[in-house]
Amino acid sequence: MERWIDVCVVDDIPVRGSRRTRFNGVEIALFRTSEDAVYAIENRCAHKGGPLSEGIVHDCAVTCPLHSWVFDLATGKARGADEGQIQTYPVEVRDGRAVHVRFPAR
Ligand code: FES
Repeated sequence: MERWIDVCVVDDIPVRGSRRTRFNGVEIALFRTSEDAVYAIENRCAHKGGPLSEGIVHDCAVTCPLHSWVFDLATGKARGADEGQIQTYPVEVRDGRAVHVRFPAR
């Protein structure tokens, strides 16, 4: 059964930046865009495992710091000519501040 976890508040995530958390041994990167949208994806690039949380956030995407692949934060899919998929996790911002992430059961 999936469950929602209260992870942090929106202001804990820098605008156009990220914050890391872990769930069931998986490192998750939370991103906040310039429009204050929040996304959660696995913090591991589909190319060679780069730390996406250290990448550059632009519009609704992040550029991996290692070889510059770009991933859509909403879908987890690589953009452009690259192919790859990052695990995404549903996010809800409750009461305008609390970030909840839905994780799968293990
Ligand atoms: S490890 Fe991310 S682009 Fe290569």
